[in-house]
Amino acid sequence: MAVDAQPTDTHLDADGDVIVTEGLTKVFEGRGGPLRAVENLSLRVHRAEIFGLLGPNGAGKTTTVEILEGINKSDSGKVSVLGLDPNRDSTQLKERIGVQLQTAALYPNLTVVELIDVFRSFYKHSLPTSQLISEYGLEERKTGLTKELSGGQRQRLSVALAMVNDPELIFLDEPTTGLDPQARRSLWDRVAALKAEGRTVVMTTHYMEEAEQLCDRVAIMDHGRILELGTVDAVVSGHFKERSVRFATVPAFDDAHLAQLRAVTRVAHETDETVLYTTDVPATIGDLERLGERVGAKNLDVAVKRPTLEDVFLELTGRALRD
Ligand SMILES: Nc1ncnc2c1ncn2[C@@H]1O[C@H](COP(=O)(O)OP(=O)(O)OP(=O)(O)O)[C@@H](O)[C@H]1O
Ligand SMILES: [Mg+2]
Repeated sequence: MAVDAQPTDTHLDADGDVIVTEGLTKVFEGRGGPLRAVENLSLRVHRAEIFGLLGPNGAGKTTTVEILEGINKSDSGKVSVLGLDPNRDSTQLKERIGVQLQTAALYPNLTVVELIDVFRSFYKHSLPTSQLISEYGLEERKTGLTKELSGGQRQRLSVALAMVNDPELIFLDEPTTGLDPQARRSLWDRVAALKAEGRTVVMTTHYMEEAEQLCDRVAIMDHGRILELGTVDAVVSGHFKERSVRFATVPAFDDAHLAQLRAVTRVAHETDETVLYTTDVPATIGDLERLGERVGAKNLDVAVKRPTLEDVFLELTGRALRD
């Protein structure tokens, strides 16, 4: 009796999502044994969103992005990018995605215009060179050699090169590393414009403030695994219910009194500041001022701080330095 072959189920229901992965795993053979760079990673990226992949050095961000781009092959798990399998359909995928590499190797002796033209020649459909030059602020340098560009100009050029084929999905691996504050903000504007044009952006960054400003959703990963995924607000409020009330430490206050102020959950000291974690900012500040009047400490310079994505990042991934 013939036994029906059971095809392995590699089908993924993208359901309108641009990227879907399930159980994605990539193992490198390292000197100290196998290194699980990406481990059982499942995520979805929606159309026209900016998705941020965050994590310490070596977390597996670039490896993940390279698998999605079809540059690196996964060892197991399922992956669908624009309805294609990057392991198998990388030629088709290449026409529709934009790839900015973390370390872009530019031809040093070509001019900016020449280099853009070379990249354009790789694709069936491409955007006009003049449009890319103007959108990425490279007018002044367009006839200069790429080896003469400043770090920031080079970075902008590498994003412009990722855009030559007018892609619907763009991968940016640390696009703003090394940029000055102006250049960083100008790149944020460009990335926001890509989204407004209906494109989807997947980016990595080490700047939590950048992720807060730009990303619709973020995934925080470490050791190849996703630790947290969601909107910045959801990720932050899922971890910290409290706000902090801070003021320059007053010697006359003792922690036992401070801990009894209304809504205070914890008292901490950071350099020369006292930090009160509270679930009700006005109640705590009201009590704090009354306490100040009692001990003759007036005009406390009180600042209220919301927890940030960086607080969550450090809580999840620790404060120790990575190699
Ligand atoms: N080709 C490779 N061969 C062996 N190990 C690799 C290779 N590429 C990456 N790794 C290892 O896989 C892990 C994940 O690396 P990856 O580059 O994905 O990290 P990352 O999150 O992008 O880090 P960074 O923030 O420093 O860019 C690291 O431990 C790295 O050393
Ligand atoms: Mg990386």
